[in-house]
Amino acid sequence: MRRPVYRPRRLRRSPHVRALAAEALLDPSHMILPVFLGDGIKKPEPIDTLPGHHRYPPESKELVDYIASAMDLGVKSFLLFAYSKVRDRIGSAAFSSGGPVQRAVRTIRRELGWEPVVFTDLCICSYTSHGHCGVPRELPDGRVVIDNDETLEVYAKIAVSQAEAGADFIAPSGMMDGQVAAIREALDEAGFTDVGIMAYSAKYASAFYGPFRGALDSAPRFGDRRSYQMDPRRAREALREVELDIQEGADIVMVKPALAYLDVIRLVKDAFPWVPLAAYNVSGEYVMVKLAGSNGVADYNTLMMEVLTAIRRAGADIIITYHALEAAKLIREGFNPF
Ligand code: PBG
Repeated sequence: MRRPVYRPRRLRRSPHVRALAAEALLDPSHMILPVFLGDGIKKPEPIDTLPGHHRYPPESKELVDYIASAMDLGVKSFLLFAYSKVRDRIGSAAFSSGGPVQRAVRTIRRELGWEPVVFTDLCICSYTSHGHCGVPRELPDGRVVIDNDETLEVYAKIAVSQAEAGADFIAPSGMMDGQVAAIREALDEAGFTDVGIMAYSAKYASAFYGPFRGALDSAPRFGDRRSYQMDPRRAREALREVELDIQEGADIVMVKPALAYLDVIRLVKDAFPWVPLAAYNVSGEYVMVKLAGSNGVADYNTLMMEVLTAIRRAGADIIITYHALEAAKLIREGFNPF
C-alpha cells in the first residue's frame, strides 16, 4: 500500500481556489494615503526623497484634484503633513489657523465636503527650529531635555486648531506621555466630542523615517529621538503604550513602522482585538521597495502587494502607505500576484 500523503497543494491548484482559502485581503478602503503640504509654494513640488509624491500648496486645485482622484480609486482616507517655513522653539505655526494643514483641510471641506476622511498629523518637528517633536528645555547643569508636559500644552492647541479646520481624526505622532489624554480633554472642552484620535501608540525610534524627514526638513538639529520614541529592541512595551492610549481615549491605535515590526502588530492585535489597529508602512520601507523594483531585485507590483498583504496578515486593520494609489489602481485592474 502507498503511504498516505496529506496534500496541502490541493488548495493551491488555481487562482480561484487560492483566493477561496486566502485570509488576508487588500482593499483601498482600509488604506490611508499620506499627503504632504508645502508652505508658500505655488505649484506642487516633487519630493526628491519620496519618488511619486509631491508637496502641494494648501489651497490649490492640484491638491483638490489629487484627493478627488484618490477617492475615485477607492482611497477615501488621507493623513496630512506639512512643511513649514515658519519655525520657532515651540512650533507655534502648527496651531495657527492660517497654517498649511488648517488651510488645506478647509480647502478640502469647501471643495469636496465631508466625504474624504481627513486625519491630521499632530507634531511640531516640522514647525520647530530644532526639529524635535517636543519642546526643549535647558536644565541648570546645561543638559537639554524634551519637556513632556510643556509639549502637551502645545499639542492641545494644535488639536483644537486642526479640529476647527475640519479634521475627522487627530493623529498625535510625537510620543509624549499623556498626549492622547491631553488632546482628548482639549477637544472635548472645545466642543469637538465627535473628532476622533488615531494615536501613534507604538512608534519606534527607526532609521526608516529618513525619506520623510527629507520631505519636511524635520530631522532633529541636535541629539536624536530616542528619549521619546520606542527602543527597537522592545516588543512587549508596545502593549503598555497601546493600553495607555486606549485608556486615554484613542479611537484607533498604531504600530509604526510596519514591515520591520510585524511581530509587534501581531502582539497588539491579539491583546486588543477590538480596537482598530493601524500600521504605518513608513517612508524608508516604501523607498526600499521602490529601489528593489528599479534594481531588478523583484517585480515592483508583486513585491508591493506582498508587503501590504503581509502587514494585513500580521493583524493590521488599516495601512497607512505611500503605495496606496498604486495599489488601488492595481486592485481595480484585477491584478493579483498570488
Ligand atoms: C513626525 C513623524 C515622523 C513620521 C511621521 N510623523 C518622523 C519622525 O518621527 O521622525 C515618519 C513617517 C515616515 O517615515 O513615513 N513626528
